Order: sequence, then C-alpha cells, then structure tokens
Amino acid sequence: MAPELSVAEQAALTSGRDAWHTTPVESAGIPAITVTDGPHGVRLTANPADMLRGQPATCFPPAVATASTWDPVLLWRMGEALGEECRSMDVAVLLGPGINLKRSPLGGRNFEYFSEDPLLAGVLATQWVLGLQSHDVGATVKHFAVNNQETDRMRISADVDERTLREMYLRAFHRVVTQARPWTMMCAYNKINGVYASQDPWLLTQVLRDEWGYEGVIMSDWGAVADRVAAVAAGLDLTMPGPDNGGDKALESAVDDGGLDKVLLARNAARVAALVDKAAARRPFSYDRDAHHALAREIAGRAIVLLKNDALPGDERGLLPLDPAAAGSIAVLGEFARTPRYQGGGSSLMNPTRLDNALDEITASTSATVRFAPGYTVSDGLGDAAEAGQDQDLLAQAAALAGDSDVALVFVGSEHETEGADRTGIDLPAAHLALIEQVTRANPRTVVILSNGAVLATTPWDAAVPALIEGWLLGQAGGGAIADVLFGRVNPSGRLAETIPLKLADHPSYLDFPGEHGHVRYSDGLYVGYRGFDSRELEVAYPFGFGLSYTTFGYGEASAVSGEHGLEVRVPVTNTGERDGREVVQLYLSLPDSAVTRARRELKAFASVDIEAGQTVEVTLTVARDDLAYWDIRLDRWVVEGGEYHCHVGASSRDLRATAVVTVAGDEIRIPLTADSTLGEWLEDPRGAQAIGQVFGGLAGEDSPMAAFFADPTMMMFLRATPLSRMGNFQGSPLTPETIAKLVAAAND
Ligand code: BGC
Repeated sequence: MAPELSVAEQAALTSGRDAWHTTPVESAGIPAITVTDGPHGVRLTANPADMLRGQPATCFPPAVATASTWDPVLLWRMGEALGEECRSMDVAVLLGPGINLKRSPLGGRNFEYFSEDPLLAGVLATQWVLGLQSHDVGATVKHFAVNNQETDRMRISADVDERTLREMYLRAFHRVVTQARPWTMMCAYNKINGVYASQDPWLLTQVLRDEWGYEGVIMSDWGAVADRVAAVAAGLDLTMPGPDNGGDKALESAVDDGGLDKVLLARNAARVAALVDKAAARRPFSYDRDAHHALAREIAGRAIVLLKNDALPGDERGLLPLDPAAAGSIAVLGEFARTPRYQGGGSSLMNPTRLDNALDEITASTSATVRFAPGYTVSDGLGDAAEAGQDQDLLAQAAALAGDSDVALVFVGSEHETEGADRTGIDLPAAHLALIEQVTRANPRTVVILSNGAVLATTPWDAAVPALIEGWLLGQAGGGAIADVLFGRVNPSGRLAETIPLKLADHPSYLDFPGEHGHVRYSDGLYVGYRGFDSRELEVAYPFGFGLSYTTFGYGEASAVSGEHGLEVRVPVTNTGERDGREVVQLYLSLPDSAVTRARRELKAFASVDIEAGQTVEVTLTVARDDLAYWDIRLDRWVVEGGEYHCHVGASSRDLRATAVVTVAGDEIRIPLTADSTLGEWLEDPRGAQAIGQVFGGLAGEDSPMAAFFADPTMMMFLRATPLSRMGNFQGSPLTPETIAKLVAAAND
C-alpha cells in the first residue's frame, strides 16, 4: 500500500496524528489506529489532548508484582485480559510491557519493570505479549534499550560494554522479539554509548532487524526523537506523539535533496501501514469487569512474597496465617491499609474500575474484632503518591491499639515511585519506621505488610518483626489479595525478582548511578543484581528468588543431561508440609573453570509448580543451548563454552538444594592469529604452533641465540605473553615484519 503513497503521505504516516493515534491517509484508505498506555492496564484518555487521566479500566498489578509470581501462565492470562479490554475500547496497540532490567534499586520506573534478571523478565514478558496479541491487539515492548534510570532520562548516555549489553540489557528483548513477535517496539529516550536509541542504526537495524529478524514497527518513546531524518535512516518507523509537521517536512526535503534515501522512508511508512492493516482484524468485545477484578486479585495474591514468618516463643508455628475463625482482636495500623498504594506515577497511572482496600477486606475475612488506626498521614489518595506525615498523636494512638489487641497488622511502604524521577534512597519514611518501632514494642505479635514499587531496606527493623509480607504495588484488587494471604486462603508462592540488600551501598550499581554530565558508566558490568551480590559473596537481607510459603518443600537428587539443543535438569520436589502449595523451582548454572569472567551463578530456567501436601512432583527444567552462550567480543558473536557446568537447583540464588554436574561440548571457535597475538596464543593454536615451529625450529637448536630463551622457563613465561610483533626486538629473533606477515597468512589462510 505505502509505496504508492506520495512522499508527503509517507512522511505523515511516520509520525502520529496526536498523542494517541497514528496519522490516517484517507486517499489510500489507511485509517488511524489508537495506541495507548500500558503496561498494567488500558489507560485510554477520553480526549487526545489529555495526556494523563484515563477512562476506568482494570488496574492489574504492575510488573514489580507480576514478576514475583514467576509464573508465565499467569502473565499470559493477564495479557489476554488486557487484550479484551483493548478490544472493548477500540485500542489497537497497548504500550507495554516494559522489560528493562532493574539495574539500581533507585530506578524510578522499577515498578514498571520486571526484574534484575534478563531470563525472568524475558520469559514473563513473552507470555504477556502472546496473551495480549491472541486478541489481535499489538504489544509494544519498551524501552529499547538500556533504559534504567530517570535522571536526565532524555539525554543520558548509558555507557555499557558490548558483552554486558548483549548478555544483560538486550537479552530479554531478544527473547520476546524472537519468541512472541511483538507488533511494535518502543525505543528508549536515552543514548547508548553516545548515540540516541531513536537514532541508532546499530541498535534498530543491525541488531533488531538484521540479527533478530524483527519485522514489526519501531516507534519512538514520546518525544524521544531529536532528528527525524536520522531516526528514519536508523530504522525508526513511527515518531510519537504527533503531529510533527516540521519533522514530516524535514523528511520530504531530505528525500528531495538526497539526504535521505527515499527507499528508507517508503519502507518505514509501509511498516506503519502494515500495522494499521493488521489491527483491522480486531473485533469489538465487551469484557466482564468483575471477572477482570477477580483475575487482578488472583495475580496480586500470587505476587505477594512472604519474607518472614517466625514462631513466637511458646507457639508451634509461624504467626501467619491468621485463623479466620478465631475470636479476639486485630489492630490494623497504617493509612495504607485504608488508602492503598497500589500503582506508580507517570504514564502508566490507571483510573481503576474499583479499588479494594486491605482494611475492609480484613474486616470481612475474620470473626475477630478489627479496629483501625492510621498511624501516619498521607498527602494523596491517588495511589501513586503518598507523602508520609509523622504525627505523634496518631503514632501513640496506633501503639495503644496494638497493645490492646491480639495481633497487629502494620501497613507501611514507600511514599512515591514515579516515571520521571529516580528514588533518593531505599529507606522507609521516618513516620513508618516510627510506627513499626512503637507497635512492635507494644505487641510482639506484629505482621508488617509493605507496599512499594521497588525494594526497601528491611534491616535492621525486621529483626523485631516476626512476620513480614512484601506486598509491592498490587493493583486495584491488592487489598483483597493481602487478606487472602493473611488468612491463608492463598498460600504465598511469590518469589523475589530483585535482591533486597542490607544497605544501598552494597548494591553493584551503587558507585555509578545515576552518573553525571550526561554519562552513566555501567561499571557493574555483567554483575547486575544478584550476580554481583553472589559473586562477591556479600550478605543480603533477602536473596533473589526467595519467598516463604505456609508449607515446606524438599528437593531430591538432581540429574542433568546435555544434548545438542541444550540441557535438561530433573529434580523431584516434595511438598513436605500439611498444606497444598506452589514452589518456584529455580535452576542456576555456573561454570567454575570458565575462561571468561562470569557471574558465580546465573538463573537459566525456572518452573512454578503446584504440589499438593505430601505429594512429589518430578520437575524438568530445560535450558536452550543459546541460553548457555556468552558474547565473545573477539568474534563478535555468541559462543557456548565447553566444560563442566554445575546445575544448581534451589529455592533462591542462595538456597541451592541439589546439584548435578554435566559436561557440555563447546562451540568450535578459532580466533584468527595476528601480529598482536602473543607467542603463547600462537603456540596454543595447532596451525599457529606449526607455523611458528617452522620459523623457530632451526633457531631453537643449541647454536641459536634464541635457544637460551626457549630453554629457560622464566624467559618462556615472558615470551609466551609477548605479542609476536614485539619479539622482533629480541636479539637473534627471526621475526621481521615480513616474516610475521607470512606467519599470519600461513596460520589463517
Ligand atoms: C513513557 C512511555 C509511555 C509514553 C506514552 C513516555 O513518557 O516513557 O513509557 O508509553 O510516555 O505515555
């Protein structure tokens, strides 16, 4: 369709009509389609000029919570439900999911992102996209790429070495692109190694299209494009928002004066036209609000992570779950129980169809008397911001109520997480810390429930708290989900998708976040999150992958086999407790004798499995061979290193229950020898050794001036580390530039 369009029409198609629509080309029968945020709900504004307030739609749990389910099936169901809501609102493309890594706990958009691990983020997002697109609604995988902070977000250059880029920051994108074929991708605001993502031919064309085979539309983030012509040339199809008449004209002129190949513009416009065409398959739908609310509650319940559940002296079991039939009294403390924090701020902010709060849900769940005290004030009831105000009277009232009740449930959390601003620390607000302190002093039977979009420090105050629930931001049905877990209707199975450190300064990103003067150095390299903590053997508060349950699980012996397609690891897992439950079985690989730097262990597969009390399930974890590979900077490609891989199966990155060792055959690689290769490298390479032997053979004889060198182990140690080109300087060396050129030709040809 698009190639027949005029250049002006093509240019118009490659920018939006307004904030939320593509530009129609009526003469060619190309209508406008609606795109809207995303990611955890459909935030469709009634008026295109309104950038923020959406019409009511289900506010599902944000990614910080859904990631903690570690359950791809649940993510598929959420995507599918979002597809229904998109159809009901005539939305063609939903702007999500956001899959960037959580490099630092301070990242302002961490609540919108899944994990510090690319496999977990990639697997979950893949299913979300497949679920959504099963309704002929397109997903937008964002923000491509290396969008890990909000500070100076529209200009900052994320300076990352290529191996880290490939193995960490691009890997989840690769998985989703190749396995779910998202209709659209959104490029990031930031620069990568000095080049704007929106104008980066390496990123958008070489990697995404040529290497990964991506065929969909690449759109810009809102306002990310600095130079339309450069963006189109780099492979960006759609600049948002619109209108951008100036940019459209600049494209026309560039085509006229030869500054832009007209084929490129035509191709990009054709991709937008194809997207519009594809969206036409979508049929209207009306979804069941109650069913979606129930799904939001189910997902939220599965996202909650039980961090601590100690038995108090004299008790046989942990404080939780509470017995719904028990008489007595429960103190519900903290304004968040009544005014929930359930989502973050910025473009993902939803206007929910309804909003549960934990206080009402707890009251409805128990025969006990429930009394409430706010403990602190919050400034805003929207759910995205809540500046905590400390009030001595409120504090005293809450402590008194705790002292006069059988159990105290304390709701605290972070004040605010939002797009546009990074956090300044990971501590709870002072008013919340004071509440915990006073309540635990008044009543040791205290449960703390956290609401937060990114990790909070739990040390040292958690020592005084027997039960601790990580409740993240749980969406509109979070209140009910918290009650479900407190009273045992849901047996917690959430696991941490990000490490909770003892303190911020321990975090691998700490020294280089958020950068300065337009640059942020990714000095933590491959050691993002638990990879850094585990490699440096640093103590953490709660490790990656961790989460308790109301039952317990035992692991049997693991076995592993390696084949041409990768690895398969099996392990029997038994529910050794008295309640049915769900275990997230995690597989971490290490290669202790690796020739390249590697994290001590890396998550390579996981399975979320339902296991009835007393039952044993044989769990199979598979790792595709591609997922074993590291990025080799010498060859500019992925390489599977051969060797003995240790397959650790466990319940967190620090709780490894069974290990199987398996030998993997490596890829055959050959690094071309050059004048700059050392003598050692030449000698290790069979062809190199042969060529070198021919030159040095005679000379290494007794009369040769080099003989003494070759015979002396110390000298040999130095020689082995010396590039051939530098050996010409040694007396008696036959290595002239000409000889070296011949050697290089002989070894490589
Ligand atoms: C955000 C995107 C969002 C877009 C449209 C941008 O500010 O970075 O994630 O989809 O706005 O609201």
